[in-house]
Amino acid sequence: MSETAKIEIDGKSYEFPVITGSENEKAIDIKTLRATSGCITIDPGFKNTGSTTSAITFLDGEKGILRYRGYPIEQLAEKASFLEVAYLLIYGELPNKSELDSFQESITKHTLVHEDMKQFFEAYPAKAHPMGVLASMICSLSTFYPESQDPNRPKAAIDLTMHRLIAKLPTLAAMSYKNAMRHPFVYPKNDLGYCENFLNMMFAMPTEDYTPDPVVSEALNTLLILHADHEQNCSASTVRIVGSSQANLYASISAGVSALWGPLHGGANQAVIEMLDKIQNDGGDLDKWIAKAKDKDDPFRLMGFGHRVYKNFDPRAKIIKKACDDVLNKLGVNDPTLDIAKKLEKVALEDEYFVKRGLYPNVDFYSGIIYRALNIPTEMFTVMFALGRLPGWIAQWKEMVENKEPIGRPRQIYTGANERDYVSIDKR
Ligand code: SDX
Repeated sequence: MSETAKIEIDGKSYEFPVITGSENEKAIDIKTLRATSGCITIDPGFKNTGSTTSAITFLDGEKGILRYRGYPIEQLAEKASFLEVAYLLIYGELPNKSELDSFQESITKHTLVHEDMKQFFEAYPAKAHPMGVLASMICSLSTFYPESQDPNRPKAAIDLTMHRLIAKLPTLAAMSYKNAMRHPFVYPKNDLGYCENFLNMMFAMPTEDYTPDPVVSEALNTLLILHADHEQNCSASTVRIVGSSQANLYASISAGVSALWGPLHGGANQAVIEMLDKIQNDGGDLDKWIAKAKDKDDPFRLMGFGHRVYKNFDPRAKIIKKACDDVLNKLGVNDPTLDIAKKLEKVALEDEYFVKRGLYPNVDFYSGIIYRALNIPTEMFTVMFALGRLPGWIAQWKEMVENKEPIGRPRQIYTGANERDYVSIDKR
């Protein structure tokens, strides 16, 4: 007997099926709610509303669990390569050696962007934020590959677009940095791995060779894996809803980059470092800033703290916090910001305001400290988040397309003026 839920409205009772997922999560299926009762539900921010069923990522906010296709994030971060995880998220299974080799080969041969795109970069001001550059460059890619705009293109063409995106994003990201520095672009090299290639494009100069430190590329590999997917977060939902109109994948990913830019979402990693620097420059009075974060009349929030789903610890924050000590020690970097971050976490987690609301460090709280140790500039932090999140966005878009989900179009409850007649301007 399948489970149901009953809703009573205006004295009438309506029954709806309850669906149960593979991890025993339950949802009331209200697909027939409006047709039967004339009512809709309303849930600003979708805090209690599921938009889809998905087999990609499972997270449990109370237990601090995060798994990609069933594999715990702790194991993937320690043992896998980023391209292995990208393949897992997109195709559903860990690749065997020949699958990984051909995936890697396909990515490698598509790392170049069309030479005409260099002119786009030259038109940007030096202070252009790289997230603004990246969002427009990704959407511009669709104009160089017009066949990608056909919603009915064959599977092989979709695979090619997915591989082109994974291959070209690091190139475009590094170009946005070189352009901001007014340094010459560095081309990708086919003999370098994914992380090493990105670091080389970022830091090599025509005057001197650059050899990526293995500690740096290993740390980058871990960070990209930790950011690779996070089920129906703001930017993934954006990618899905843009893709649901049959807009092409480049346009959908570009929209995801724009959503990620916000300081409440991926932009928090840049905001955290700016906050920690501000606290340090202000004399490091943690109690003062904790009080500001709790004050409803003060717009200041503790950036990097709190999460829509994790009401206990964010497993990614735990891994990154541990990696902070490890990477900074190996690189011989002494960053006082790390001490401030650890003290701030301790003070906040001894404060009832944060504990009562389940506000703990999230993925963005410590990640900026590692990025800074890797010499990644602050304005590039959210670009790094986008590089990691790309395979997750692609996987979410692919699942939405394969499941033939309808165009996303939420309803509303109207609260404006009732019908009234037009009044000529001389009578207003
Ligand atoms: C990411 O969804 C994902 O999975 C996102 C992400 C991913 O991988 O895709 O995990 C990545 O975006 C991480 C979050 C990064 N953002 C920040 O660090 C910005 C600071 N955090 C907050 O703005 C906030 O915690 C959110 C946006 C993350 C979550 O907001 P919610 O779920 O809408 O919660 P809320 O704003 O309703 O807050 C509940 C209460 C409120 O107080 P009361 O009304 O109950 O009195 O907690 C308070 C809030 O004022 N609160 C904070 C706070 N976060 C929440 N108070 C001070 N500092 C904070 N950081």
